Amino acid sequence: MGIPFLKMAVVYFLVGIGYGIYMDMTQDFALKGAHAHINLAGWASMALFGIIYHYFQSIDNSLAKVHFWLYNIAMPIFMVSLSFVLIGNLSFVPGIIVGSNLLAIAVLVFAYNVLFKLKASNEAKLKQEQNMQV
Ligand code: HEM
Repeated sequence: MGIPFLKMAVVYFLVGIGYGIYMDMTQDFALKGAHAHINLAGWASMALFGIIYHYFQSIDNSLAKVHFWLYNIAMPIFMVSLSFVLIGNLSFVPGIIVGSNLLAIAVLVFAYNVLFKLKASNEAKLKQEQNMQV
């Protein structure tokens, strides 16, 4: 799931920077919380997930898929709701609660995958196989 995560990271980078430029141009910084989360949870974290999944091939790919979909369903719910709440529309608070909890579950799946499925010995074996193919 390295490449899908990297591609989504770049999409979030474009949106995050779009928010930043909008705030600069209007000198209205109400959305800075959403801007920071889009850039850090969207761009920076997803780029890291992408690099980790690409580099460590022994990690469980079906768990990585669950992580990817949960994360990418949670993020738009969370970020759109957060943006509306930051500009004063409190009816979007439930969206923040749903989105942030889904995001936290996605992170738990990622943590489980790295802590329990990533094995140094498997990585060494994979590297050896790759070297033998060259
Ligand atoms: C073209 C690129 C960017 C522009 C124009 C931009 C613009 C801004 C602006 C106008 C603010 C509000 C400053 C204030 O409150 O006075 C801000 C805050 C912030 N930005 Fe950006 N930004 C950009 C890229 C990024 C990136 C790449 C990241 C992280 C990876 C980032 C993370 C943050 C954080 C953490 C804050 C503070 C939020 C807070 O205080 O609640 N920004 N940015």
